[in-house]
Amino acid sequence: MTLAAQHAADDVKVELGRRYHFAASHRLHNPGLSDEENSRLYGKCNNPFGHGHNYTLEILVSGKIDAATGMIANLMDLDGFVAREILEPFDHKSLNEDVAAFRGIVPTTENLCIEIFRRLKPFPKAKLERVRVQETSNNSFEYAGENAEGFEG
Ligand code: NI
Repeated sequence: MTLAAQHAADDVKVELGRRYHFAASHRLHNPGLSDEENSRLYGKCNNPFGHGHNYTLEILVSGKIDAATGMIANLMDLDGFVAREILEPFDHKSLNEDVAAFRGIVPTTENLCIEIFRRLKPFPKAKLERVRVQETSNNSFEYAGENAEGFEG
């Protein structure tokens, strides 16, 4: 790359996607509803002792390319942050029992997306654009924060 091209790249915004995996259990149950209503609403996901999922988490961050490193963020920094904020507190845990945020709200994957976004938003080295959580091979959910204008095509 020529020097001029390097300078041009300094202002280029690039998006970085990274995938993580964790396993956790949950029970879908709203304590404000009767047992019958919960059973009707959530079906087998309301079973009293919960059930597990192998979740896949995909995150997208953006930033400008650092001229010195050629990177928008060091993957080691990102991985360390995600490990501390998400993988260590969630992996092989009960979302209902072990994660304080889910004592008051039902740990659907919709709500899980929002909690993960909230925890990752402070990552200091790049801007968090969105998170996507795949719960099963058939469902996934995305959240891009309250001010997002919409997902990219
Ligand atoms: Ni489930």
